[in-house]
Amino acid sequence: MSPRLLLAIETSCDETAAAVLGEDLSVRSNIVLSQDEIHAPYGGVVPELASRQHIRSIVPIVRESLAAAGVGLEAIDAFAVTQGPGLIGSLLVGLSFAKGLAYYRGRPLVGIDHVQAHIEAVALEHARIEHPALALIVSGGHTSLYVLKRKLDYARAGRTRDDAAGEALDKIAKFLGLGYPGGPVIQRLGEAGDPGRFDFALPRMSDRSLDFSFSGLKTAALRIIRENGVAKDSANLADFLASFESAIVRALLGNLFRGAEDFDPKTLILCGGVARNKRLRTEFERRARAAGMAALVPSPKLCTDNAAMVGALAWARIAAGAGTGGGPALDLDAYPRLPV
Ligand code: KG4
Ligand code: ZN
Repeated sequence: MSPRLLLAIETSCDETAAAVLGEDLSVRSNIVLSQDEIHAPYGGVVPELASRQHIRSIVPIVRESLAAAGVGLEAIDAFAVTQGPGLIGSLLVGLSFAKGLAYYRGRPLVGIDHVQAHIEAVALEHARIEHPALALIVSGGHTSLYVLKRKLDYARAGRTRDDAAGEALDKIAKFLGLGYPGGPVIQRLGEAGDPGRFDFALPRMSDRSLDFSFSGLKTAALRIIRENGVAKDSANLADFLASFESAIVRALLGNLFRGAEDFDPKTLILCGGVARNKRLRTEFERRARAAGMAALVPSPKLCTDNAAMVGALAWARIAAGAGTGGGPALDLDAYPRLPV
C-alpha cells in the first residue's frame, strides 16, 4: 500500500510555499515562490504587499506542488498549514486557503508553529535524532534557543531581546545599498574578506541568561562604517562584511555552546534562514565536533522558509494524535507572535 499523503502550506512571511509529503517523510514535491523581488526595492518585507502577493500565488503554487508530486487533490489524506508566528495578513491567506481545502475534502487540518517547523526540518534528512537536543533557530524574524527533552517537546531557553540575527544582516545590507535579503549578499561579497580586520565587541548579558542581542553589533557596525569610510564600492567592503558576519556567527555560537554546557544535549541543531550561511555552518560543525556532540543542520534549501518542514512537523504531530478528530479544524486561528 502506498503511504498516506499530506499537503502542507506555508505563507508566514514572504515565501508562498506548498509541499506534498508521504507519511514516511518522503518529500514528493517542495515548491517555494520567493517574493524577494517585490520587497527588494524597500530593503525589507512590506507586509501589505506580502499578503497581496500570497493571494495571487497560493492557487498556482498549490497546483504546482500537486502536479510535481504527480497526484490530484483527491489523493491527499491530510492538510497542514503554518498558523504562526508571522505576518498576520500573510498567515491568514495560507490558513484560510488550507481550511477551504480541508473542508472541501473532509480531511483533517493540522495547524503548525513556524519556529517548531524550522527545527523539525532536520527530521527530513535524519531518521534518528537523539534527545535531549538543543536547537538554535536563526532567521529574519527569530533568533532563539530551544531545548527538546524529547521529540515535540519545545522549551525556549533563550531569545533575542531586540533584532533577530537575519534582521541585523538585512539592515546593514540595506544601509550600504547592497540589496535584500542581506544575508546572502553579505556572504557573497564578504567571502574573500579578512574577518579579523575590524573588531566587534560581542554583547554580554549581565545575567546568566542565554538571550541574544544584536542591536549593539548593529550600532558598532554603523560606527565602523562611518569611521572607516566603508561603502558599496570601497576597497575595505569585503573585510568589513567578513568581520561583521563573523561577529554575528561568534555571538550566535557563543550562546549555543554556553547553552550546551547548561543542558548537556546529545544533539545540536542549527536551523532557520541564516543557517544557510557558510561561515555559520562550518563553525557550528567544527565546534560541535570539538565538543563531541552530534551536529545537525538541514540542507540549505530546507533552512529558508518552505512547506516541507511544515509537513514534517505535521506528520510527527499526527503520529502523536493530532487531527484524529478527522474534521477540517475550521476554528484554527492565526497568531502573529509566539504564544507566551
Ligand atoms: O527562515 P527565513 O527564510 O525567514 C524567516 O522566518 O525569517 O530566513 C530569512 C533570513 C533573512 O534575514 C536572510 O538574510 C537570511 O535568512 N539568510 C542568510 C543567508 N540566506 C538567507 N543569512 C546569512 N547567510 C545566508 N547565506
Ligand atoms: Zn522562517
